[in-house]
Amino acid sequence: PQDVTNTPGEHAIFMIFGLQDGDEALAKVKDLCADFTAVARSMRTRLPDSAISCIMGFGAEAWSKLFPKRGKPKELEVFKEIKGSKYTAVSTPGDIFLHIRAARLDVCLEAATIISSKLHGAVYPIDEVQGFRYFDGRAIIGFVDGTENPEDEARLASAAIGVDDADFAGGSYAFVQKYLHDMNAWNALSTEEQEKAIGRRKFNDVELSDEEKPENAHNAVTNIEDEDGNELKIVRANMAFANPAKGEFGTYFIGYAGKFSTTRKMLENMFIGEPIGNTDRLLDFSTAATGTLFFVPSADLLEELGE
Ligand code: HEM
Repeated sequence: PQDVTNTPGEHAIFMIFGLQDGDEALAKVKDLCADFTAVARSMRTRLPDSAISCIMGFGAEAWSKLFPKRGKPKELEVFKEIKGSKYTAVSTPGDIFLHIRAARLDVCLEAATIISSKLHGAVYPIDEVQGFRYFDGRAIIGFVDGTENPEDEARLASAAIGVDDADFAGGSYAFVQKYLHDMNAWNALSTEEQEKAIGRRKFNDVELSDEEKPENAHNAVTNIEDEDGNELKIVRANMAFANPAKGEFGTYFIGYAGKFSTTRKMLENMFIGEPIGNTDRLLDFSTAATGTLFFVPSADLLEELGE
């Protein structure tokens, strides 16, 4: 796999590009596939402490244009928006996705610059977000984010496609959403009310008991199981971002999953509710401005795609 099981890191850059028309653009993207892993490898050699990792993914339409003879990962499609009675998980365009993480922002920027220059002329920018680790790994709304992520072997098993889609095993479905928070409304809540929205204590991250936790708490609606009662997990690597002068405070949500249907079920629970109408309390203060699904090939497949 590419580095889909890494922790969120100290700094991250998320870039989404659209693919230009024409064979030259396709050729340029394929060239990048061939030497993509070399970008991070070289920087790791130069700066061993930088913990740099770079991930590249493709939207469904771009995948078909770039690699028409490769077939398609089973669950790769253009994200279909999820419209509940109150809130909508919008679907927004994206062809090429880059997730760059490092212990230093300058290192992230260096990798982002090298990769962008390799793509120059073949793509146009759609979105770019610089995320940062906020204190002890908190979302910008003040709660520790990432606690219930799967650990050890369960991490790879949750994040990577398995043998049931053998041609794409080791790949991953990356789903991203840029959320903007209404910080005035959020900060107007008491700490206890905020804790009920998330389902955990704010200061020490302890989970609320079943009696204390409302049905619409974020960690209640996103906690899902299969028919046999096994918990279904994804690997989240969200980052906070902020532009204080503009009053913009957000969460860049990213979930890596071996099955997109798992992520989608969580989204349906948040936006439609299960039962219908039990929407996520967090959405009363958070708006999804984007929503895009990408396929992240395994590192080996990515290199092969460049041949
Ligand atoms: C849990 C924040 C969006 C899936 C959490 C927690 C926080 C949080 C603070 C509790 C700590 C933890 O276990 O990580 C946010 C914020 C979001 C957001 C600020 C954006 C507004 C999403 C989305 C999904 C999701 C879109 C799924 C598609 C989960 C899951 C858990 C979780 C699976 C763990 C639930 C459990 O305890 O089993 N999130 N989240 N989150 N979130 Fe989110």
